[in-house]
Amino acid sequence: MQFERDVSLEGLNTLGVTSRAENFCRVESDADWLAAIDYASSRGLGITLLGGGSNVVLGEQLRGLVVHPVGDDIDLFEQRGDDVLVDVLAGTEWDTLVRICNQRGWFGLENLVSIPGSCGAAPVQNIGAYGVEIAEFIESVRVLDLNTREFSVVKSQDCGFAYRYSYFKGPWRTRYAIVGIRLRLSKTPTVNTSYAALAQALENAELHAPTPVDVLNTVAAIRAAKLPDVRRVPNSGSFFKNPIVSSEFAQHLKALHPDLPVYAVDDGSAKLAAAHLIEAAGLKGYQHAGCGISEDHALVLVNPGQATGAECLALAEHVISTVQSAFGVTLDIEPVVMGA
Ligand code: EPU
Repeated sequence: MQFERDVSLEGLNTLGVTSRAENFCRVESDADWLAAIDYASSRGLGITLLGGGSNVVLGEQLRGLVVHPVGDDIDLFEQRGDDVLVDVLAGTEWDTLVRICNQRGWFGLENLVSIPGSCGAAPVQNIGAYGVEIAEFIESVRVLDLNTREFSVVKSQDCGFAYRYSYFKGPWRTRYAIVGIRLRLSKTPTVNTSYAALAQALENAELHAPTPVDVLNTVAAIRAAKLPDVRRVPNSGSFFKNPIVSSEFAQHLKALHPDLPVYAVDDGSAKLAAAHLIEAAGLKGYQHAGCGISEDHALVLVNPGQATGAECLALAEHVISTVQSAFGVTLDIEPVVMGA
């Protein structure tokens, strides 16, 4: 394992911003993780964890030590009846995991296909798409306490999972590194077609009794048609969260804007479609300083002109204030901001 100085992170963030790590290392084994902690603590350096880089906005320099998990490992830990417990190393690419599990007949993750990023980062923001969130399939998360150097296991119910949130994004952000995840999947080929756009696409393809692989292929096709491909147009997926508001406020907005999609949330509040608000505020396709709001999907901030992280955030602020003036709704950004 190597420690390097002044390393470019441009290829390690899908938004494609220019950024340099003061110190950098890749980790795979438990021994690598401990070596990284020791390197940082003996030099008084803070640690920043950078996974697949698909949900971050980086500043021009990241001070301290940037630790990047690598490697891939997907192991069947245990079978209990129809359930399978699957252990995955943090550095494993998420999309690879989804496809391999499906091929092995371990079902459940199909709706989460094609999401860029690593398995270690997936629980941090509780990735979700097409009616499914990873929280439903997490059995536990294996962590390393960066202060005490101890490895331990956090059960799913203790992770604080909520929409696009977990304690790993909040109070545990600087405390724990996720070194692996354990998923509970099923050998029974059930599918989740609750998301309207998915159900519609399956109907259109005359897949009336879809299999898990049908769902996987259909979700991959919807995403490919709607979301800009990070390999061609740098972006970090949804840049804004769908705002959760009181159901009274949602009804008031719906009366003013009858087309506005409003989704009920379990606790009685309502989730609004941020993409609709941004588009209705006239910002779909808006560009400034090399970055802009995608023509394909208004939730996605694209960066074809290599804007800096600060320029991307300035564009996001413009979107937030414009939507606030138009609808009285304050949007919140989804990616994690790292570095000045
Ligand atoms: N819409 C617009 N304009 C657009 C795009 C969408 O008005 O440019 C409207 C649509 O017509 C629809 C509504 O917004 O009524 C919702 O659109 P969509 O089904 O695309 O879902 P979303 O709420 O915009 C969320 C996730 C996506 C995930 C999709 C599908 C968040 C922040 N985003 O987007 O996640 O793929 O649902 O489940 O929750 C990501 O996090 O990176 C991501 C892509």
